[in-house]
Amino acid sequence: MRNRVFVSCPLPGSAVARLEREHDVVIGEGPRGVRGDAFARGAATFDAIVSLVTDPIDASLLERAGRVRVVANFAVGYDNIDLAACAARGVTVTNTPGVLTEATADLAFGLLLASARRIAEGDRLVRRGAFDGWRPSFLVGTPVHGATLGVVGLGRIGQAMARRARGFGMRVVYAGRTRAAPEIEKALGAVHVPLDELFERADFVSLHCPLTPETRGLVSRARLGRMKAGAVLVNTARGACVDEAALAEALVAGPLGAAGLDVFEDEPRVNQSLLALENVVMTPHVGSADRSAREAMAATAIDSVLAVLAGQRPAHPVGG
Ligand code: GLV
Repeated sequence: MRNRVFVSCPLPGSAVARLEREHDVVIGEGPRGVRGDAFARGAATFDAIVSLVTDPIDASLLERAGRVRVVANFAVGYDNIDLAACAARGVTVTNTPGVLTEATADLAFGLLLASARRIAEGDRLVRRGAFDGWRPSFLVGTPVHGATLGVVGLGRIGQAMARRARGFGMRVVYAGRTRAAPEIEKALGAVHVPLDELFERADFVSLHCPLTPETRGLVSRARLGRMKAGAVLVNTARGACVDEAALAEALVAGPLGAAGLDVFEDEPRVNQSLLALENVVMTPHVGSADRSAREAMAATAIDSVLAVLAGQRPAHPVGG
């Protein structure tokens, strides 16, 4: 039997065409997703939703979309979804883990290098014609090799980040809700430390935790205050894990030397005080944005919808 599926916006690759062969698909308009007219018009008729991180899926939406049986989030994170509201209505929620691990770690390491070695600042300088010759103390940055990376959350992406750090001759400490298996610690040379100690010991802190009530504001004014002089923060997780106002202050008055940010507290709005700073490298939430990761995310999300609509268990359910 054909069902009706709302897909928040056009997706890369051929996965949606595969879905269209079995079901009727309505594709939303760009960034408005479930807030757009296409969703509003058909809400009560949809059996499944493929959502983006920008689509809030909450009790009131599910009330309007009472037939929905599965919400397949095109993302590994699912803080945009009220899991309790979904569970209360028997709605299955799925995500797309694994396929974006390496892409996200690539971007995180890119931000680490760019912040440490002032790559974006140098690019701006060259473009405005201010490169007036080589000098010994010109645009001198923070050493990467031999430095200590603190990974907050040694899950898939945190481990991929740690592997890159080892390749660059860094030491790795980590903190997180769960301790990694001894063989993982050994393979990565990663030492488990309490969270506050990580902020004190690391030259670079990189966030790889989900946004939950426990991690909201995890990089607080107090923790920023514990960081080493000149330390660097990298965030490819979620903006709300960081107190952005406190971060901007720590980048101006110390102790932070720089930050590399792919995510922001109130996306797509970016804190004005960060925009004014030379020692921040910013990208527009593109952690998983490489071609193969994005196509694989689409395939994974669509497979989940097809499985649930066929009465099967999807490969990546979240929330029990
Ligand atoms: C993107 O932010 C994701 O969670 O996949």
